[in-house]
Amino acid sequence: MKRRVIIEPFRIKAVEPIRMTTREERVGLIGAADYNLFALKSDDVLIDLLTDSGTSAMSAAQQAALLSGDESYAGSPSFFRFEAAVKHLMPFKHVLPTHQGRAAEAILFSLLGGAGRMVPSNTHFDTTRGNIEATGAEAHDLVIAEGTDPQSLHPFKGNMDLERLERFLETHGARVPCVMLTVTNNAGGGQPVSLANIRGVSELARRFGRPFIIDGCRFAENAFFIKEREAGQGDRAVSNIVRDMFSCADGMTMSAKKDAFANIGGWLALNDDELAQAARSRLILTEGFPTYGGLAGRDLEAIAQGLKEIVDEDYLRYRLRTSEYIGEGLLSLGVPIIRPTGGHAVFVDARGLLPHIPPLQYPGQALAVALYVEGGIRSCEIGTVMFGRRPDGTESPAPMDLVRLAIPRRVYTQSHADYLIEVFADVVAGKQALRGFVIDWQPSAMRHFTAKFRPL
Ligand code: F0G
Repeated sequence: MKRRVIIEPFRIKAVEPIRMTTREERVGLIGAADYNLFALKSDDVLIDLLTDSGTSAMSAAQQAALLSGDESYAGSPSFFRFEAAVKHLMPFKHVLPTHQGRAAEAILFSLLGGAGRMVPSNTHFDTTRGNIEATGAEAHDLVIAEGTDPQSLHPFKGNMDLERLERFLETHGARVPCVMLTVTNNAGGGQPVSLANIRGVSELARRFGRPFIIDGCRFAENAFFIKEREAGQGDRAVSNIVRDMFSCADGMTMSAKKDAFANIGGWLALNDDELAQAARSRLILTEGFPTYGGLAGRDLEAIAQGLKEIVDEDYLRYRLRTSEYIGEGLLSLGVPIIRPTGGHAVFVDARGLLPHIPPLQYPGQALAVALYVEGGIRSCEIGTVMFGRRPDGTESPAPMDLVRLAIPRRVYTQSHADYLIEVFADVVAGKQALRGFVIDWQPSAMRHFTAKFRPL
């Protein structure tokens, strides 16, 4: 029987009009933004694939839950609903709400970081790395070799290289305050980590007496990949897989702006009583009282409801199929992408697509600008602009020059995806004429957000 199209498993109850622009208008708008897509007004974007973070469409049930938000300073029932929803999936002893993921990271590393410390992960997300380095500690990426090979079809390209981790812990053990693991591995292409690998990391961390902390931003997508790809997992409920993932860990950081369908929010969860107590004291200083953290009661309600919806398997099937569908469309045009497609995004290999633009002229930026000019699509360079500058100010090519097409949850339909593929067809047809960029101005850190570019 022919496989039927996997439809969006929802109907649309409220709509947000898209303001149409012409190619000519967009040429002017991107020039006025110094060719930095972060400087565009979002009204001037047709399809915004800058991030899947905080951009989800909330469900009717989440909107309804907002009204039951209790805004008491202490002991709000909204907190207890939030806490129960988290603990249902992630059985940690202490759950501290924060205003987003990076606030959880900042609190954690204010306690665990410091000069001389070293924190390994598969690949740290940039805010995690930033929060570690801000304390004087070092962040180390130990993803498997396949994880940085765009063409490798390894089913779990987010896996930690367990041999390298073991050597790392043997050599530096005393300097390692915790072992981290990002699921899915955002910076490495939205690639999943297998349950076997999560268990392997957990065993090593335990053997060396180091706490194991999961960055769980896209935990549900990771769990569905485990269900689809890992031997023996296909018949299990996603929520059980999720519980297994987190039972291996001593804590987690979370951005509820991803796999909790919330527009804002996050948390830090820990098992260790003493560490949790220190984190709570820090939370009160920087975020708020422990029963609201950095959030309003209504946000806690939206997260609690979102966590129930995110493990819905019809949703997750549609979700992962969306990136796969876009990926297939791009491959049919000969556009090199990271394969297999990740969960929340399609990562285009801009260096492969535009070999005539050298890495230090930012092929990823060239592609991102072209997608905006041709079709009003906003994407994000993840390459030499983002990672190419060393702390001493020198520059070298990042390992890959990627452009991320991040897919907001439940926001766009299949015709938006078809349009995106059509825009790519036009960009591919004119790719020889695309040129790189120079940076005219940049700040000393996190330059991708505010750098000013000039076309060559
Ligand atoms: N960890 C990962 C893996 C992330 O992808 C992000 C955010 C964070 C931590 C930080 O969470 O934004 O709530 O403070 N990623 C967004 C993105 C910004 O576009 O990928 P936050």
